[in-house]
Amino acid sequence: MFTILVFLWMVYGLEGADVVLSCSLIEEGGGMGGMMGGAMFKRIPSTLVFKDLVGNDGLSPELVTPYNPPETPNADDLIFELTLPSIQIPNADLLLHADCNEQEVVCEISRYVPRGAELDSLPAHFIGSVQLEGGGISLTLVLQTLHNETTQSDTQPLMQSNLNLPLSQSGTLLTEVVFVVFSRVPSIMAPIGGDVLLDCGFRQKNSIPGQDVALEWRIQHRGNGRKILDIKARETETDVGQDLFVDREGTSAEADLLVRDGNASLTLKRLKVIDEGTYICTVGSGEFQTQQIVQLHITQPPRIALSEEKLVFQDSKPQKLSCHCHRYYPLDVQVEWFSQAPSEEEPVSLSEESSLSSHQQHSDGTFSLSSHLTLRPDKNPPGTVITCRVSHLALETLSDVTLTVDKPDPNTVFWTVVLMLAISVVFLSQVFRGAGAGAEN
Ligand SMILES: *[C@@H]1O[C@H](CO)[C@@H](O)[C@H](O)[C@H]1NC(C)=O
Ligand SMILES: *[C@@H]1O[C@H](CO)[C@@H](O)[C@H](O)[C@H]1NC(C)=O
Repeated sequence: MFTILVFLWMVYGLEGADVVLSCSLIEEGGGMGGMMGGAMFKRIPSTLVFKDLVGNDGLSPELVTPYNPPETPNADDLIFELTLPSIQIPNADLLLHADCNEQEVVCEISRYVPRGAELDSLPAHFIGSVQLEGGGISLTLVLQTLHNETTQSDTQPLMQSNLNLPLSQSGTLLTEVVFVVFSRVPSIMAPIGGDVLLDCGFRQKNSIPGQDVALEWRIQHRGNGRKILDIKARETETDVGQDLFVDREGTSAEADLLVRDGNASLTLKRLKVIDEGTYICTVGSGEFQTQQIVQLHITQPPRIALSEEKLVFQDSKPQKLSCHCHRYYPLDVQVEWFSQAPSEEEPVSLSEESSLSSHQQHSDGTFSLSSHLTLRPDKNPPGTVITCRVSHLALETLSDVTLTVDKPDPNTVFWTVVLMLAISVVFLSQVFRGAGAGAEN
């Protein structure tokens, strides 16, 4: 899938701040696709203008310049002008601040046909999908074109060349947001054994009380898809009725929050590695149905330990030291080694001399790995600090385990000296005896 990184800028209208996004209209292109054996998509540059998206209280007056449509309307321009009459888009101000934070915005528009509608009937519908790179908010908007029932003037309106839809006097395609499915946390990390709330919600213009709201959550992972929850809920005078299907223990969504607050969030309890994946929240209400994606990443930091508690060189033999990383997720882990002798100012990297074991996968999906190092006494005098440094996604900072090379045990030294002395005494006495015998002869 292509994603187009777009540039976002903003202008401030008198009633509120306008947000202007560069988008692509995605259209299924005929012709060329046939040869390739699949549908080809055309991307047509377009603009999405949110009028008065957020109030401009506190904004500096010099900045208050409303969005200016082109001076002469052009049939080739594709400007979707959005009015938000009754829908409050949650966290919409994030779009306004994205510019200041230099966040990129991905914006794509495509044609949409509501349930039961004719393909070319009016009003026309579009899906606008807007995502802030790096998280924040993700929106799937259903846009419905606005048309004047009675033509006030005799002149025919300008028709947009690509869509063949009438443009407003200022050359924009006037639309209103009639349905939106959003996530304020489109990507989330959670540890094994923990619980998580996957954020998803919807808003609808003119929702009919008592109307069914259908919510479906699916997980998609490594090419496999599975429905894990399905709710059909409706508000009656006394309570909220629901038909519920759940295919994972510890999974829930609240039917009353769904119909009363438009809250479609999913709770997953006691997470396992296999819960990781792309979750698709699909909300259907009345003639509209659309979806939002939430990524769940499972993480588990490694437990890190050295194979030895102490390191003493008794003789000139090298010694082996291992650094074990236990039960972490995901797979990528980095192990580095350093040594710093008392005489050295900076630690020296030993990573090149180390060797890695292969990854071991446990039945719960976590991994373990060890890194081995051979240390020589000449290079590592007593007092040398050996560090194993591990970095992993689930560790907030680099994690160090260290060990200091000890002096050989003084007791051992004492007995070694005694032994050496004893040997010397025996040897010398032999020599003297030999010498004495020689003298006698
Ligand atoms: C409908 O009419 C009003 C008033 O003349 C005008 O301001 C508006 O742009 C028109 N809308 C469209 C979609 O042409
Ligand atoms: C849904 O409800 C939960 C629990 O009250 C809350 O934490 C979450 O922010 C709500 N999400 C939406 C989209 O309203």
